[in-house]
Amino acid sequence: MAILCIPNAIVAHGSEPSKAMNAIDKCWRGNPHWRRNRQQLATCSVGFAGKLTTNIGRAVTRYQVTDPTDDALNPKPGTLRYGTTIITGKKWITFKRDMCIKLQKPLLIGSFTTIDGRGPRVEIGDGACLLVYKASNVIIHGLRIHHCQPQGPGLVMGPDSKHLQLGPVDGDAIRLVSASKVWIDHNTLYKCTDGLIDVTRGSTDITISNNWFRSQDKVMLLGHDDEYWRDKNMKVTVAFNYFGPNCNQRMPRVRHGYAHVVNNLYQGWEQYAIGGSMNPSIKSEANYFIAPESGNKEVTWRQNSYGISWKFFSVGDVFANGASFTQTGRGGAKPNYTSQQGFQVAAATSVRLLTSSAGALRCPRRSTC
Ligand SMILES: *[C@@H]1O[C@H](CO)[C@@H](O)[C@H](O)[C@H]1NC(C)=O
Repeated sequence: MAILCIPNAIVAHGSEPSKAMNAIDKCWRGNPHWRRNRQQLATCSVGFAGKLTTNIGRAVTRYQVTDPTDDALNPKPGTLRYGTTIITGKKWITFKRDMCIKLQKPLLIGSFTTIDGRGPRVEIGDGACLLVYKASNVIIHGLRIHHCQPQGPGLVMGPDSKHLQLGPVDGDAIRLVSASKVWIDHNTLYKCTDGLIDVTRGSTDITISNNWFRSQDKVMLLGHDDEYWRDKNMKVTVAFNYFGPNCNQRMPRVRHGYAHVVNNLYQGWEQYAIGGSMNPSIKSEANYFIAPESGNKEVTWRQNSYGISWKFFSVGDVFANGASFTQTGRGGAKPNYTSQQGFQVAAATSVRLLTSSAGALRCPRRSTC
């Protein structure tokens, strides 16, 4: 039986905030006054999500979550669901104190929404989890999401106070459906029934950065099913994440689209780390792969039902403990980032340091994060 909010259930893998910061963290974590200027975070994203500066400015409603309860149909003021569905327009959501939120039904997140969990310790678990459905310009930052469970179909409150009939869901921590420009940064994700992040149904321009993924069979799915051709335009950046311990597979698993997997740390795997089907292109760049002590040392996995025309290549990766990476396809597609998306890729040898504070940060009062 899953238990929500065990004190000290999560022990950070790196205790001290590291002095060397990656290209995203450098943008805000060094500023001791980040609390007074929370919206500056939106200028810090890189990769395919680009900058999220559309989420900030005068038109933004600041909303603080004060009440950890949930009502999926008639959310009360002060709850997280009230913030994501009843508040209209651009919204920046923060949390007043430490809290554990058990969601009754998936939490629908609409466009121009920032969920900023920095400061207190915010856990969402032991129930339904997050769903970004047909929305764009979303930031999800600083949450601990775990023990997400499947949900039956049902009516829930959606953005702009509209009730929506949802089908059943599998129990993913964060699920994106037909979503674009979404930045998922500094979250700690583990032990969900299905996967931790699902990017599906034509979703694109996504950055998944600085997260800590652990204790999970199927970690991250990019492209939901082999028949969904629209996902060939999917572009996702997976950067500065920490995978492990106890992750089995899909870090990520890619169908159809393009993934730039860069500067991540892999603390072992069971079946594989990076894999795919349906001709995906994957550029694996300057990651640090630590193979498991025993068992499969190969990083990649490919489903061979449709030949070998897909591209799968490695540049500047470090392979420790006997890890190997089989490349296929000719040449490697570059991400072709715009100036808003591009960033300095670090050497793989510094990835341990640059991912040492991945996951939800501890930000004690009046200190840097
Ligand atoms: C980047 O541009 C090259 C050359 O046009 C192209 O072959 C490649 O597919 C592009 N990369 C992506 C991710 O679209």
